[in-house]
Amino acid sequence: MDISDAASTTTTKTVTEYDRAKEVQAFDDTKAGVKGLVDAGVVNIPRIFIRPPAELAEELTTHQSKLQVPVIDLDGIRYNQLEDIVDQVRAASQTWGFFQVINHGVPLNLIQEMIEGVHKFNEQDVEVKKQFYTRERTRNVRFNSNFDLYHSRTASWRDTLAISTSGTKSLEPNEWPKVCRDTIMEYIKEVSKLGETLFEILSMALGLKPEYLKDMGCFNLYSVICHYYPHCPQPELTLGARTHSDPSFLTILLQDQIGGLQVFNENQWIDVNPISGGLVVNIGDFLQVVSNDELKSVDHRVVANVHATARVSVACFFTGHTTETQKPFGPIKELISKENPPVYREFLVGEYFSKYFSKELESKSAGLKQFEV
Ligand code: OGA
Ligand code: NI
Repeated sequence: MDISDAASTTTTKTVTEYDRAKEVQAFDDTKAGVKGLVDAGVVNIPRIFIRPPAELAEELTTHQSKLQVPVIDLDGIRYNQLEDIVDQVRAASQTWGFFQVINHGVPLNLIQEMIEGVHKFNEQDVEVKKQFYTRERTRNVRFNSNFDLYHSRTASWRDTLAISTSGTKSLEPNEWPKVCRDTIMEYIKEVSKLGETLFEILSMALGLKPEYLKDMGCFNLYSVICHYYPHCPQPELTLGARTHSDPSFLTILLQDQIGGLQVFNENQWIDVNPISGGLVVNIGDFLQVVSNDELKSVDHRVVANVHATARVSVACFFTGHTTETQKPFGPIKELISKENPPVYREFLVGEYFSKYFSKELESKSAGLKQFEV
């Protein structure tokens, strides 16, 4: 290759990158998200959403598996079957990092109302919705498309309404979107109760006293993330949510009946099939750290929605300390021994998040590796 070839290659590359930045900005400026594109009738998805050829080729080699994420019936707690439930949660958390719960105590009509509330928010007058469109992390209520739009290689086919909340900080009534305020407030209350129960079970699964994780500060619901996945005209070219593990101790996920969530297990993608009235629970990165790798935070993703109806999900992230809290956490001392030395150093939630929001994290190894000792 001579110098002029090299120069033209460089120019081409620069132009491609420049175009992407410009197209990302133009999409963001619409403040109408992916739904805006669908409403405008796009048939070919914009290239900012198209996955790299190597990833698409790899996808063709994956095949369907009959494996299923464990389903755990929490009703047993009332019938003195707590030990059995603790065993099931331990087994699921050590291997899958995921399980579904039924008879979890969150009223089924509230689950339905939440799904409807997310539809209502996204399907309301776009001008009203735009007032919530922001990437400002100090805002407690943020609507946008792709929180990592400016950092990721490929944008995902979904829009998101994120609500930051904690037990001690309540939102001003006028900060909330009116169409779903009461429902979300009620939902937070109910999911927090379930979270408390799950942290007790998880503490016991680790051989600790039931209050252990809660006393450590893991139990603090910080973000309620409502996702809206509109129909995608070219679902084979993109994803609804790219591969990631969760920046939380624990995530409780409500998904509607459409499906699309997949978890990576035994080298393949497994569908997490929706079960009516069920909730998905998964271990996040922070719980993997404090359990010193005993419990696993596992990569997952959502395929683009092929259905005419939009898919809705609500992820509740228990992130423990808020990002402002200056309390470091690391592997729990009781779980450390000569044979089982600490895998991670101590770090602050804020430190994790500043990295999380400043660059693309393709998978959990990227998120956790930086804190390995
Ligand atoms: C998440 C997530 C899955 C889904 O918000 O972290 O993995 O089904 N969501 O929307
Ligand atoms: Ni997730």
